[in-house]
Amino acid sequence: MNKIKSYKELISLNETLKPLMGMRNNTNFQYRENDLKEILVCGGTGCHSAQSDEIIENLKTSIKNNNLLDKVKVSLTGCFGFCAKGPIVKIFPDNVFYVNVSPNDAEEIISEHILKGNIIDRLLFEEPTIKQKVKKHDDMSFYKKQLRIALRNCGVINPEDINEYIAENGYIALGKALSSMSNEDVINVIKKSGLRGRGGAGFPTGLKWESTLNASSHEKYVICNADEGDPGAFMDRSVLEGDPHSVLEAMIINGYAIGSNNGYIYIRAEYPLAIHRLKVAINQAREFGFLGKDILGTGFNFDIELKYGAGAFVCGEATALIHSIEGNRGEPRMKTVSSSKKGLWSKPTCVNNVETYANIPAIMLNGSKWYSSIGTEKSKGTKVFALGGKINNVGLVEVPMGTTLREIIFEIGGGIPNGKKFKAVQTGGPSGGCIPSKFLDTPIDFDSLNAIGSMMGSGGMLVLDETDCMVNIAKFFLEFTVEESCGKCTPCRIGNKRLHEILTKITEGKGCEQDLYDLKELAETIKDTSLCGLGKTSPNPVLSTMKYFMNEYEDHVIYKKCSSGSCQALLNYFITDKCIGCTKCSKICPADAINGKVKEKHVIDNTKCLKCGACLDSCKFNAIVKK
Ligand SMILES: Cc1cc2nc3c(=O)[nH]c(=O)nc-3n(C[C@H](O)[C@H](O)[C@H](O)COP(=O)(O)O)c2cc1C
Ligand code: SF4
Ligand code: SF4
Repeated sequence: MNKIKSYKELISLNETLKPLMGMRNNTNFQYRENDLKEILVCGGTGCHSAQSDEIIENLKTSIKNNNLLDKVKVSLTGCFGFCAKGPIVKIFPDNVFYVNVSPNDAEEIISEHILKGNIIDRLLFEEPTIKQKVKKHDDMSFYKKQLRIALRNCGVINPEDINEYIAENGYIALGKALSSMSNEDVINVIKKSGLRGRGGAGFPTGLKWESTLNASSHEKYVICNADEGDPGAFMDRSVLEGDPHSVLEAMIINGYAIGSNNGYIYIRAEYPLAIHRLKVAINQAREFGFLGKDILGTGFNFDIELKYGAGAFVCGEATALIHSIEGNRGEPRMKTVSSSKKGLWSKPTCVNNVETYANIPAIMLNGSKWYSSIGTEKSKGTKVFALGGKINNVGLVEVPMGTTLREIIFEIGGGIPNGKKFKAVQTGGPSGGCIPSKFLDTPIDFDSLNAIGSMMGSGGMLVLDETDCMVNIAKFFLEFTVEESCGKCTPCRIGNKRLHEILTKITEGKGCEQDLYDLKELAETIKDTSLCGLGKTSPNPVLSTMKYFMNEYEDHVIYKKCSSGSCQALLNYFITDKCIGCTKCSKICPADAINGKVKEKHVIDNTKCLKCGACLDSCKFNAIVKK
């Protein structure tokens, strides 16, 4: 491929390539006899690790064996978001969505679906609430309320083929900016769009760009924060795996807007597939002339380098990340001057998150009015959430800001499995808080979540049911913080450890009322005195669970009881009259705590019982209960 030398040339290439995508985006596509049928196979990390590569190979072999090479095309694509049901295969023009596909299903997909037009019922998704199979992507409740802007190309294009990105108007926003807009014009569009950073703090992106533009220096830097350390979060990884060019394009636009020629993507080394896709995309972008010198013949130069993190949560904090790129220990520092004035190598630096960047080309193409018409008054656009925990449809969802928690959990997420009761939803990962059911109708945005003691964070959303203990959940997040604290400041290094010790004491039934006062006071002190965002937010899970679920703390401390049944030390196992004396449990018990004769009711000695639960799992007669 020769370099594209002008915006005009890019537009003409875009027109030529458009037919590549005709069928995939258009639900009213009029299929004609000679059109290629298309099969998309998800190549995101989840599906990839569940053999989606083999599915592609087997589909290709079957296509060849059936002489269909000129009739059917198979493409790798990015994440569809429906990760727990992967591998996902989607078939056009029918728009049929298959879940849990295995390499062995490939032949049947070709012989039955492609050749005979018979939809394979067993591969269709069954809606958990109505127990009905759904054929088409658009009819699935998981997708009905979603609006995909940051994820617009994930599950649509082949992320390793720049032609498909260009066919989807890729790099047109860059061409438009470089050929007809000043850097102030670009910044104005971003400012007016109302876009706020998706990495956690929600700072207005346009203001950050403006502040870096206004900093006087010959050298400036653009950084993409792809560290993504929140447990359970994988939205940034999915964008990079499914649509790497949109992040590159946004970074080049950012470079142009602030007057920078160098960009860095800081990505954790545990993301090998995202790194691979980025490397492929960067090479293609250089080959086509979107990176390098004299981009699109405009005289603007910009290039991007990858920097690898070693998987430390604190390295996602902007000042620690800058230290790490400089080759120093990834420790945060006091923010006396913002990075936009003095960042990487003390030069003005713009640090933005992957999802923030993924929105930029769409805003530049569709305009600030379009973007700001989506969302709430102070939080515009959409947000991607990693929905997990006790929920039927685990996966990645992108919804307009202002969608309620109830809509996300009960409509998109399909509700709580096994008829269990919803207890709370934890948003914002280790920095966030637990939200009880009385706030399920809250329209979510940055400010509403803060107002109820939680936060948006990077978008982790963990659903908890009646079997989850809120003290234990607070302990779980604290465990993570204690592990990940860089140790630079005392409140975070020592304070979080003490918080964790108190929580452990309580979950083991050894807590007293004084512990509850200490817990609150210590949590507030850590919040007020820690150096960086990690320590400042680490007590949030403790404080929010104390605020909304104090009864559970009191149960543990005063009555030595865990009502959800998850704190092992506070549980006792009993055998009921359902016991028929099969002896299975006594044989399996590692502590010899169960006695009884054959065909007679057995008894558990709770002084010997280790609370391992082995007997409960072994009893086929549901005769064992824990209380
Ligand atoms: C402990 C800690 C970890 C963070 N991790 C990330 C991260 O993994 N990715 C990210 O984009 N921002 C992370 N942030 C937020 C960044 O410091 C910064 O605000 C963000 O990258 C700015 O980009 P944005 O304005 O586009 O959100 C973290 C902050 C803290 C305090
Ligand atoms: S708050 Fe924690 S992570 Fe941040 S500087 Fe202090 S010790 Fe390090
Ligand atoms: S396994 Fe169940 S039925 Fe069998 S002895 Fe134990 S409690 Fe009784």
